[in-house]
Amino acid sequence: MRKVSIDSVEPGMILARSIYSAEGRTLLGAGITLSTPFITRLKELGVPALFIKDQTTGDLPVPDVISEQVRLSAVKTVRDSFTRVQLYHENGLDPAEVKEAASAIIDEVLRNRHVMVHMTDIRTFDDYTFGHSVNVCVLSVLTGIAMGYNELQLFDLACGAMLHDIGKMLVPLEVLNKPGRLTPEEFTEIRRHCEFGFEIIRQYKDQFSLLAAHVAYQHQERFDGSGYPRALKGNEIHEYARIVAIADMYDALVADRVYRKGYLPYQAHEIILAASSRELDPAISQIFLQSIAIYPIGSTVQLNTGDIGVVVDVNKIHQSRPVVRLIYDHRGKLLSHPYELDLTRHLTVFVEKVLFEEQVSQLISSSSVEA
Ligand SMILES: [Fe+2]
Repeated sequence: MRKVSIDSVEPGMILARSIYSAEGRTLLGAGITLSTPFITRLKELGVPALFIKDQTTGDLPVPDVISEQVRLSAVKTVRDSFTRVQLYHENGLDPAEVKEAASAIIDEVLRNRHVMVHMTDIRTFDDYTFGHSVNVCVLSVLTGIAMGYNELQLFDLACGAMLHDIGKMLVPLEVLNKPGRLTPEEFTEIRRHCEFGFEIIRQYKDQFSLLAAHVAYQHQERFDGSGYPRALKGNEIHEYARIVAIADMYDALVADRVYRKGYLPYQAHEIILAASSRELDPAISQIFLQSIAIYPIGSTVQLNTGDIGVVVDVNKIHQSRPVVRLIYDHRGKLLSHPYELDLTRHLTVFVEKVLFEEQVSQLISSSSVEA
């Protein structure tokens, strides 16, 4: 399967992954052939991108660290609790549900701890915050496991990560959703979400550890002291909050938003790496990046030989040397017999660049004309 931005989707393409609303409703099921009315509707709904099947990638399975079912149910839990906090302020959270979702995520990530993260979820789209909270939780738990955390530590980390942005529900909507530039007063307003989050979670101190509340309080603090609300530095910031800060930044970078396309994973890797000498904890950033594929399965890459292919497997130890199924030669001509090249065994061959979806679409349409 291949990720295609909504502007490059054409009638006749086949959907490879179902599209869900944040309530967990299936809007379009996998396997369906996209028609013009479907595409128009998806654009109206603000779906930024989707996964399609094509002849080059076929049914290439992309492993995920958690199942679709656990992901969707966690998104629904976050949505319900967050929405109630927004409406009623007091007693909005359902601690039992949040804890259950956190445990389910921990169980699955523990089971799949050797699977790399290939993509974060784009299948629920209609409210960024809810899917983002779940992604940040998954990425944080994966990092906690790699750091050798025990179950209790993972649990507090997971709850804090899932609720890190709950304070945003108390920020006035017109400020939170303002499309243009924020005034200094509005910035101050948004920045208060950390304290709000701390206060909300603290109301449930019999249910959640105070550390979870501190994750919400400190997730915008930066390792070099440039963050807020208290400009804490280095180890003054709780380790859980340092993990969540990295997961939060990564997921925000790769997310497709209505107003801009997400960064490709290798670009987000570079940005995190650059930030790891300043804003982010350098040691934790290293651990984090080891679990996230630089060239996720399904990426289209051009090698230094000029040949173009699709990543079909990644070796965790040698991330920059994936297994590539070669599909086009260096002249862009479709190979009659595609073959796989394991770059850990061909040391003079390396990935030179990752192609954007538009470049891939162009390539496919021009070579199918030739064929
Ligand atoms: Fe935040």
